Amino acid sequence: MRTDGDPQMIVYFDGRYMPLADARVGILTHALHYGTGVFEGIRAHWDEAQQELFVMRPVEHYERWKQNCGFLRIVVPLSPEELTEITIELMRRNGFRTNVYVRPLAYKSAERVGISYDDENAFALIALPFGEYLAKEGGVHAGVSSWRRIDDNAIPARGKICGAYVNSALASDDAHRCGFDEAIFLNDAGHVAEGSSCNIFMVRKGKLITPPVTENVLEGITRDAVMELAQRELGVEVVERPIDRSELYVCDELLFTGTAVGVSPVTQVDHRLVKDGKIGAITREVQQLYFDATRGHLRTYLNWLTPVYKARMKQEQDHGSLAGIIAG
Ligand SMILES: Cc1ncc(COP(=O)(O)O)c(C=O)c1O
Repeated sequence: MRTDGDPQMIVYFDGRYMPLADARVGILTHALHYGTGVFEGIRAHWDEAQQELFVMRPVEHYERWKQNCGFLRIVVPLSPEELTEITIELMRRNGFRTNVYVRPLAYKSAERVGISYDDENAFALIALPFGEYLAKEGGVHAGVSSWRRIDDNAIPARGKICGAYVNSALASDDAHRCGFDEAIFLNDAGHVAEGSSCNIFMVRKGKLITPPVTENVLEGITRDAVMELAQRELGVEVVERPIDRSELYVCDELLFTGTAVGVSPVTQVDHRLVKDGKIGAITREVQQLYFDATRGHLRTYLNWLTPVYKARMKQEQDHGSLAGIIAG
């Protein structure tokens, strides 16, 4: 799916709010040549009945982003809470009343040729209307990629490092050209790692199984949410252990998780049906729970969500305005 931004949409760039059309970087920018940036992906879900936009675990996303920026010694000079405030303000200024994807991006901004980097950094926050990313009636068809997942000692997969996504782009493009909806990466040990932009789980004998975070995968926030929902709400045992490729062919259920994809059932892998080719019971239940939790329908998980419009009204009542943090 393409998600081109409207040029008049408001983004946060260079420390202030401005139209997307004005947020530009120079052709010599270090990150453009060498991939020296770190990004994040956050979703907000619109709930029509409540007339509310709920941002999913923004503080945790910003904590992860700031940690991952450390790989490149990029310092984002705001706290996760301040970044959340800007995110809410972006939604409000754009008047979004639909599902939204937020793309924070921090990068080496020096405009010069030369691979070694200095302390010149910049960051931007962009919020875009964003629909379903990997949804297909009846489930997706995934293919094991001939591209291997990057190893931690090459580029850490646990950080959303811009250059590392060449690995994902190669696998994703190849998968699409081969007729698959998504790629499944094996790591250098030959174990199942993850999708090009999502984590992977399988169900075998009633247990939900996913590779541990030491298998060259992103430490997914949706992965974490799904593990909690399955254990707490369904009483399903969750196991983190290496997964062999051939287990993909004999498992009972298979699913991807991620901010963009949500919970996405996989019903075919490498031209073989997963079990009977129908979406499995645990996948269906987890998918529904995740949908409800992210739309504010489940009281237990309201602490995952930051409501955009009601939070704003309350803050304005409490403080008069938010001028302190938000300039521009
Ligand atoms: C390679 C990769 N794996 C997994 C994920 C899922 O992580 P999260 O659930 O935190 O979005 C993503 C997306 O962010 C990703 O790019």
